[in-house]
Amino acid sequence: MIRSVVKGYGACLPKRAVPNKDLENVVDTTDEWIVQRTGIRQRYIAGDDETTCSLGEGAARAALRKAGLQPDDIDLIIVATSTPDNTFPAAAVDIQNRLGIRGGAAFDLQAVCTGFVYAVTTADAYLRGGLATRALVIGAETFSRILDWEDRGTCVLFGDGAGAIILEAVESDGELSDRGVLASKLRSDGDHKDKLYVDGGPSSTQTVGHLRMQGREVFKHAVGMITDVIESVFSTTGMNAEDIDWFVPHQANKRIIDASARKLGIDPDKVVITVDRYGNTSAASIPLALVDALDDGRIKENDVVLLEAMGGGFTWGAVMIRW
Ligand code: UT7
Repeated sequence: MIRSVVKGYGACLPKRAVPNKDLENVVDTTDEWIVQRTGIRQRYIAGDDETTCSLGEGAARAALRKAGLQPDDIDLIIVATSTPDNTFPAAAVDIQNRLGIRGGAAFDLQAVCTGFVYAVTTADAYLRGGLATRALVIGAETFSRILDWEDRGTCVLFGDGAGAIILEAVESDGELSDRGVLASKLRSDGDHKDKLYVDGGPSSTQTVGHLRMQGREVFKHAVGMITDVIESVFSTTGMNAEDIDWFVPHQANKRIIDASARKLGIDPDKVVITVDRYGNTSAASIPLALVDALDDGRIKENDVVLLEAMGGGFTWGAVMIRW
């Protein structure tokens, strides 16, 4: 059988870091409130010369370098984003062009904060189905461009950035001890649309719109949805919290991450946290956190890594990878 094995990883952040203190001049907020309620201390905000595609390109080039691959070795690009440079063409095709790739396929995938989990699962299905051999999976966002900078309930929470991994189709015996994507589960339920959405779009308002969120309502559902979908991955693989080497959750709020890990019985020392430095970067948050833990040597080859996310829609899901 085929397994989708990780070959490289990379990240790209905007140049400018914005500490909570700076936001005290923008809306009625305090560093203390933001840290206490979310764990966020700073985020990166894209400058005029930085976009979702430029950040995505930076992450892709870093991942190619790490994998020792050339752009032409890639025959599938999936970009998870809700903030593409243009309504179309897809950010993935733009990034494909920036990398000088002329073959294969490239498309965007929109599942908001769950985008990277959806994109890894989709790439894995393409590779296992024989539709591609090497996939570049990118999460790239510039949420700062869809924030209402007068709404303190949302503008302090999000940041910009991009992360990427490369997955390669590798012949495998398909054992749990073999490297690659072991299992994934995706969920969505549009009944929750009004709790987290953007109030514009090409076919409705002909504007980009601004992010709107009933934060407390999202919070109320998050832990249950995250833990349910992870339990489902556990039962598919026959593994449990003790088998996990690293838990790399979507980075929306430290309190949600802590509560989810506690409910699942995952040791806090195994949880990768970046929300303090990057804020919530939506589809980019998981790959950025992965790169953090890979660069400092925490995640090593053969480790079992559990990814999860929940976001607008609602969408939610989890992926287990033997790194
Ligand atoms: O990534 C996609 C998924 N998104 C999430 O997972 C986000 C989920 N939600 C959350 O993380 C939290 O609900 C928030 C961080 C958004 C808010 O935390 P909370 O503990 O749920 O606070 P709250 O919304 O209940 O607001 C508490 C108070 C309110 O004041 P009153 O009504 O009690 O007087 C807010 O107006 O905090 C006030 N508030 C603020 N105060 C200072 C809201 N935003 C701010 C702010 N600074 N930035």
